[in-house]
Amino acid sequence: MTEKKLWAGRFNQPTDAFVEAFTASVEFDQRLAEYDIQGSMAHARMLARQGILGDDECERIIQGLERIRNRIAAGDFPWSVALEDVHMNIEAALTDDIGDAGKKLHTGRSRNDQVATDVRLWLRDEIHIIQQETRRFQQALLQIAEREAETILPGFTHLQTAQPVTFGHHMLAWFEMLQRDHGRFEDCAIRMNELPLGAAALAGTTYPIDREFSAELLGFDRPCANSLDAVSDRDFAIEFSAAASILMMHLSRMSEELIIWSSAQFGFITLSDSFCTGSSIMPQKKNPDVPELVRGKSGRVFGHLMGLLTLMKSQPLAYNKDNQEDKEPLFDTVDNLKGCLKVFADMVPEITCNQEAMRNATLKGFATATDLADYLVRKGTPFRDAHEVVGKAVALCVERGCDLSDLSLQELQGFSASITEDVFDFLTLEGSVAARNHIGGTAPKQVRLAIAAAWDRIRQQP
Ligand code: ARG
Repeated sequence: MTEKKLWAGRFNQPTDAFVEAFTASVEFDQRLAEYDIQGSMAHARMLARQGILGDDECERIIQGLERIRNRIAAGDFPWSVALEDVHMNIEAALTDDIGDAGKKLHTGRSRNDQVATDVRLWLRDEIHIIQQETRRFQQALLQIAEREAETILPGFTHLQTAQPVTFGHHMLAWFEMLQRDHGRFEDCAIRMNELPLGAAALAGTTYPIDREFSAELLGFDRPCANSLDAVSDRDFAIEFSAAASILMMHLSRMSEELIIWSSAQFGFITLSDSFCTGSSIMPQKKNPDVPELVRGKSGRVFGHLMGLLTLMKSQPLAYNKDNQEDKEPLFDTVDNLKGCLKVFADMVPEITCNQEAMRNATLKGFATATDLADYLVRKGTPFRDAHEVVGKAVALCVERGCDLSDLSLQELQGFSASITEDVFDFLTLEGSVAARNHIGGTAPKQVRLAIAAAWDRIRQQP
């Protein structure tokens, strides 16, 4: 195949061998080949429709690109570093195959609008896959939430026992995080769905092109409104990385909880053996490697966001070669994000809840102290006084090493005369959660309503 540089006309000396490899991107941007071909086919069709290319030339280009597509799929394409990037590799192969018509494909186009188009086409598909995986994970959460709607565990603030909550309610908290993540990807996909092609190198082109037609062929909502902006900005990549980082931050929080919950000291859950590994030295170990690795991978995704922001910072208009550096961080972000979502969606349904351990933990740490205060308020005590009274009762329990519900009625009445026999109904864990019976509350009844509403929400926007 020709290895002659497609831009060599004005050069008298060959490229330095190291510089050739240093400036090439084909090793990684060949991943965009399918989108480069789609973009080229649409461009050729638009040129033919506008009479800039002959219909026969267009046909040969399309057929030639189809053959290249098949060769690439078969692993039978000679990627060449001398041809720098995916765009020039494909164009050179096309010209090798079909001759002069191949040389006409680049009419009214530049690699600058070409690459900006390829990356958007590729990312649009990836976002779609990421959204589907997010939905699969959310469905798994709703299934567990249904199963464990009544299961009680300690709710924490500051990782100190706060109030009893239901496990279903906790799973729904994760569901909500993912719901917003899904929406962020949706927003990003909508905003980036504008076509750069036609911007050419930076200023547009002198040919009578029809950018709206190209946009329609490629499924974009419209052409980018400004050619300088079209070839130069990568804010869509940054926006995607920000959404990816937020999702990874959420996954890292979930990971952390799974790791804590599966420790011997908590013992709230058991992760399936198929998602854990052992230790080569300590025979007893079953390590939560999957959530640990996901927690760790959040670091590289956040790093890529910083990398892309820094890449774009202070770049003058329009295209600069700096932008070639957008691809590896984006590819790595997408690969890792998809991996993390997949492994969570697969792992979460396999979690076993150890209800007994959760219950016993909830009985420690005075999780129903707020319920006692609320009880006193209902009997006419101002909340601040009630808070004080319960604080004293808790201090006594700490001294004795017992729970509030272990105090006798007489002892409780020593703290407040308005306490009567019915107080014990409010000091049970079931009573505590059932009482939080309003939208967004932890009562099993509300959890079931929220689950039903959640199924509707994801059905409405699959
Ligand atoms: N490989 C380049 C990139 O990824 C393609 C665009 C190159 N354009 C240029 N004028 N050198 O950005």
